Amino acid sequence: MDLYEYQAKELFTKHGVPAPAGKVVTSVDDAVAAAEELGLPVMVKSQVKIGGRGKAGGVKFAATADDVRTHAGNILGLDIKGHVTRQILITPASEIAEEYYVSFLLDRSNRTYLAMATHEGGMEIEQLAEERPDALAKIQIDAIKGVDADKAAEIADAGKFPAEVRDQVIEVLQGLWKVFTEEDATLVEVNPLVKDGDGKVVALDGKVSLDDNAEFRHPDHEALADDTAGDPLEARAKELDLNYVKLDGEVGIIGNGAGLVMSTLDVVAYAGAKHGDVKPANFLDIGGGANAKVMANGLDIILGDEQVKSVFVNVFGGITACDEVANGIVGALDLLGDAATKPLVVRLDGNRVEEGRKILNDRNHPLVTQAETMDAGADMAAAAAQNASAQPSK
Ligand SMILES: Nc1ncnc2c1ncn2[C@@H]1O[C@H](COP(=O)(O)OP(=O)(O)OP(=O)(O)O)[C@@H](O)[C@H]1O
Ligand SMILES: [Mg+2]
Repeated sequence: MDLYEYQAKELFTKHGVPAPAGKVVTSVDDAVAAAEELGLPVMVKSQVKIGGRGKAGGVKFAATADDVRTHAGNILGLDIKGHVTRQILITPASEIAEEYYVSFLLDRSNRTYLAMATHEGGMEIEQLAEERPDALAKIQIDAIKGVDADKAAEIADAGKFPAEVRDQVIEVLQGLWKVFTEEDATLVEVNPLVKDGDGKVVALDGKVSLDDNAEFRHPDHEALADDTAGDPLEARAKELDLNYVKLDGEVGIIGNGAGLVMSTLDVVAYAGAKHGDVKPANFLDIGGGANAKVMANGLDIILGDEQVKSVFVNVFGGITACDEVANGIVGALDLLGDAATKPLVVRLDGNRVEEGRKILNDRNHPLVTQAETMDAGADMAAAAAQNASAQPSK
C-alpha cells in the first residue's frame, strides 16, 4: 500500500524524523482556516499517490490568505497523471538553503536492502541516477545488522553531505530506518530532505510504501487505507477477499485461476470487436474450490458495476469440480433473487462437467445460457452486452 505524503510524514514524526506539521483539508475554506492556524506563508500541496506533483502545478507557495484561496481552488480537483486531487496538505513553507535526497528500499535483484543518498537533491532523482550515477550513493544494508549510527554515518559520507549537517543526517537516517523496519515498509523516500533557513534538516516530502503481507502485524495501518482514491467496487471486493480488478468495459468476467481469467479477457476483447467494440469490465479470479458463497460474492460485485451489461463465467474444472461451480451459480442467483438482472453466459469444462451442465439445465434460469467452448461463450457474452447497450436503460 502506498501512502500519501501527509501519512508518510506522520510516520516520520512518530519515529523522530523532523517533518513540518500540516493539515489535510478538502475544501478551500478549510484550507484558508488551516493556513491561518499554522501561520503564513504556507505550501498548498496536492495529496495524490504519484510523483511530479510540483511540475503538474500541484505544489504552490502561498504568502497570503488570498493566495491560499486561489491555489487551493486550483489544486482541489486537479488531475495529475490520472490521479484526481481530493485532499490538499497545508503545511508551513520552509526556507530552503539546500536540498538533499535519501531513501531506503528493497533491492529485489540483489536480494538485499539498499540505502540511496545524495547531497545533490533538487533535480529529479531518476535523471541524476542516469546522468551522473556516481553522485547518487548506493549502500547495501545487512538485514540483520540494520542501520545503526555507524552505518548511518557510512551512508551520510557516501552521499557527501556537508559537515555541518552530517550529525543531523545521521539521526534522520536512523529514524527513517525505524520507519522502514518497524512499520514494515518496502520503500521510504525523502525528496527533498532540506537544510532550512535555521540550519535544521527536515523532510519536506515523503513517500512510503507498506508491505501488505505484513498487514497482520499492524492493526493501526488499516486506518491508512483510503477509500477516496481506490475504486469502491475494488474496496468491497478486497473486503470479501476476492481477487478483483475493475476495468472499463461492459462484459463482466468470472473465472478460476489467474491464467484462465487473463486469457478470457483476451477472447472477450477479441469477440467484442465484432459486437460494437464491447470490452471486459473486470478481472475476477474466484480461485479453486469456489462455493456458492464465493460465487455469490463475485456476482454481487460484478452486477454492482453499472457499466456491466452481461457476464461471462468461464470455469475449467481441475481440483474445482464443475458441479460445485454450477451449484454455486444457482445458489448465487437464488441468493441475489431480483437483484440479478443481467444475462449470464456460462462455460463449464473439465472435472465433472456433465454433472455441472445438468444442474444448470435442470434449474433453467432465464438469465443463464450455457456455452460449449470459451470462444463461443465470449462471443455470446459480447453479443449480449452489445444488445443490452442498445436498449434504453430502465
Ligand atoms: N513545506 C515546504 N516548504 C517549502 N518548499 C516546499 C515545501 N514542500 C515542497 N516544497 C518545494 O516544492 C517542491 C516539490 O514538492 P514535493 O517534493 O513535495 O512534490 P513532488 O510530487 O515530489 O514534486 P516533484 O516531483 O515535482 O518534485 C520541493 O522540491 C520543494 O522545493
Ligand atoms: Mg518530492
